Amino acid sequence: MRDKILQLLRNKGPAHMSGEEMAGKLGVSRTSIWKNIQSLKSDGYHIESSPRIGYRLVGVPDLLYPAEISKGLKAKVIASALGLIYHFWQTDSTNTALKSLAEGGAPEGTIVIAEEQTGGRGRLGRSWFSPPGKGISFSILLRPSLAPGDTPLFTLMTAAAVTQGIKNVLPDLPIGIKWPNDLLIKGRKVCGILTEIKAETDLLHHLIIGIGINVNLKLEDFPPEINKIATSIYLENNETEVSRQKLTCSILQEMDDSYRRYLSEGPGFILTEWKKYNITLGKKITLNIFRDQIAGTAVDLSPRGALILEEKEGTRREFHSGEVTLL
Ligand code: BTN
Repeated sequence: MRDKILQLLRNKGPAHMSGEEMAGKLGVSRTSIWKNIQSLKSDGYHIESSPRIGYRLVGVPDLLYPAEISKGLKAKVIASALGLIYHFWQTDSTNTALKSLAEGGAPEGTIVIAEEQTGGRGRLGRSWFSPPGKGISFSILLRPSLAPGDTPLFTLMTAAAVTQGIKNVLPDLPIGIKWPNDLLIKGRKVCGILTEIKAETDLLHHLIIGIGINVNLKLEDFPPEINKIATSIYLENNETEVSRQKLTCSILQEMDDSYRRYLSEGPGFILTEWKKYNITLGKKITLNIFRDQIAGTAVDLSPRGALILEEKEGTRREFHSGEVTLL
C-alpha cells in the first residue's frame, strides 16, 4: 500500500492529491491512506499535508528502500523485481543474511541491502566497517552454471561493474582497481568486494557477491585503525555528499548488464573491462600470501584472472590470491 501511495504521489509531481482521490483509486478508506502516509513520514519521506487540498511528495530520504531501488532500475536478473530486494536497518553481514536466503531456495538475482552491518566481513578474515546510513553494503545472489575454479573472474567482473557504476554518477572520480578487487582513490580504499561460494568439487551451487562502499563517511566517522588506509567518496568528491540511492541503482544496473553479457557471450570481456580501470599492472608491487612476501612487477592477468608477477631475476609466476601493496 505504501508503495502504491508513493507511486500516486510521484505521478502527481509537484501537485497535491487528495486523500479521497487516493482512497478511491486504491479501493481503501481515507483513514487507511492517512495511516500509511504517517508511516511513510516516520520513515523519512517528506510529505506535505494541506487541509482540503491533500498530500504532496516533497522529498525522499536517501535510504536504500526496495521501492526506491526498484524504481531506478531496468534490470532483468539482479534485483529485477521488488520481491527480490531485502532491506535491513541492521544486520550482522549481508553476505550471511543472503546465505540463509540462498539455502532456503531464494532465486538468482535476490539481493540483501543493509543500512548498517554489525559484523561486516572482509577478505582474508578481516572485518568491514559499515556505520548506519553512510555507506552502501549489499550482497547479490547468482546461480551461474560454472566451474568453482572460474569464480575469481566473477570478482573481477564485479570490480569493473562497480567502478563503472560509480563513474556513471561521478565521471571525474579518479577511482581504479587494485588486483583483484579493491577499489582505490589516490591509494586509499573506498570499496571492497567479498565473494563467497557454496560448491562441490566441480559443481557450483551458488555465488554470493558482497559489496561494501564508503560513500558519505566523514573523516571522523572512520575508526583510527583504518583512517590512513581508507577513504570515502564524500572525502574525494570535494566533501560533497552523494546520493546512495543513485549510486546503488547505477551499480546494480551495471552488475545486471555485465552478468547478462557473461550469460550470453561468456567471460571473454571481463579482463578487458577490468583492465580499463586497472591500477596494478605495470607497477612494482609486493604480494603478501600467508606468511610470504614476494616482490616484483605485476605484468598481466592470466585468462582465469590470476596475477602474473615478474620477479627480479625475470621469472614469471601466477598467483590466484594474496594482498597486493602498490610500491
Ligand atoms: C574486502 O575488501 O575485504 C571485502 C569487503 C566486503 C564488504 C562487503 S559489505 C557487504 C558484504 N557483507 C559483508 O559482510 N561483507 C561484504
